[in-house]
Amino acid sequence: GGPVSVDLSKIDVGAMITEEWRGKPIYILKRSPEVMKELDSKALKDRLLDPESDNAAQQPAYAKNDARAINDSDILVVEGVCTHLGCAPKLFYEVQPESFDPKWPGGFFCPCHGSKYDLSGRVFSGVPAPANLVVPPHHYDGSTLIVGE
Ligand code: FES
Repeated sequence: GGPVSVDLSKIDVGAMITEEWRGKPIYILKRSPEVMKELDSKALKDRLLDPESDNAAQQPAYAKNDARAINDSDILVVEGVCTHLGCAPKLFYEVQPESFDPKWPGGFFCPCHGSKYDLSGRVFSGVPAPANLVVPPHHYDGSTLIVGE
């Protein structure tokens, strides 16, 4: 389909909505100030495969930052498609199942083969997924988020 348009005032902190663009699920997550502060922590980045989002295929240049978002926005926009074999990662925003690594600060977990991503969609080292979740092209029109061109 065409571009997706989302009124961001409808999304609560910690909540995620799923839209569809070009046949792919698009996750739109609103992160808290506390989460935003954690995204540049060394303890976290040391465990990520591509902490600085250097793989240019995975996001537009304007999303090459710790938030992986325009202007370090608290709004994360990513394709809900695991970069391993394409399953849908699940969001674990705060509460983590006990079976997860206790050092994992929350994020996305792919149930197919156990890949883990942080709350910017950056992949952890040592999991099957080879790259960060894809950030699709997006921009803002006032307080409305537009995904796609
Ligand atoms: Fe996600 Fe394999 S498809 S870990």
